[in-house]
Amino acid sequence: MQITKLSTHVGVEVTGIDLRQPLDAETARRLKEALIDNVAMVVRDQKLTPEDLFRIAQNFGEVMDQDHPKYSFPGLPAIKRHSNWNLDTGGNPVKEGIYWHTDGAYRERPPQFTMLHAVELPDAGGNTNVANLRAGYQSLPEDFRRRLEGMRTANVRLASRAEDRNYNNLHIMQQGGQVPTEHPLVRTNADNGQKGLWFNPQTVENIVGMDPEETQDFLRDLMDQVIRPEFIYAHKWRLGDLFMWDNRSSMHKVDFDYDTSQHRLLYHAMTLGERPF
Ligand SMILES: [Fe+2]
Repeated sequence: MQITKLSTHVGVEVTGIDLRQPLDAETARRLKEALIDNVAMVVRDQKLTPEDLFRIAQNFGEVMDQDHPKYSFPGLPAIKRHSNWNLDTGGNPVKEGIYWHTDGAYRERPPQFTMLHAVELPDAGGNTNVANLRAGYQSLPEDFRRRLEGMRTANVRLASRAEDRNYNNLHIMQQGGQVPTEHPLVRTNADNGQKGLWFNPQTVENIVGMDPEETQDFLRDLMDQVIRPEFIYAHKWRLGDLFMWDNRSSMHKVDFDYDTSQHRLLYHAMTLGERPF
């Protein structure tokens, strides 16, 4: 197995391993460490069934059921068929993940790792971009970092000021939404003790003590400061890739720049994280 860094701040590539074979404890440890250190990791040249992905994900933690069970495989509620041809509750193609976000931030225990396996891809485009928000946070002046550390976010499925009009989440909010879940704006990664900014602008209704409008302006401005080119890895997909990231230390988004008449199909899994602190 070869592990190669893709840039200084984010991204690592793994080759020379077939994840369908049982993983010994040392190899599993090295993979998890590479993922956490580099925030995003691609394991090349896999050929996985949904069941294989479920089994592999178990090496990284407790596998979580999906947010919207209708896209899961029958009998496998944790594995999603992530397709650009999936339809939302309103009958329109789902445009998922096109704005910077971190997954499942409205949950009390949000997902730790998200994993995607490329099964069908368009001829060009559809990159998945991951930004290292640990590095972004460290790049801020110390007095500003201290101020941010005191802030808490109130999270719902879809914030009233969100750019994302994800119809499935909008539908949930229209049905009565949920009690907001409070999280710290600066989160400690339990595995390496490092702090990073952690929020999803699509789910933060407000920062405690600010109104929703002020909150969005503040978060947008913060993103402009920390999501810098040197902290971003743009993953150009190859068939067979298993790509994953650490949601505790990053944001991600997909480029919606491809021919949507072509099928983009990925298998999707998430592992459970600790309660943010
Ligand atoms: Fe996502």
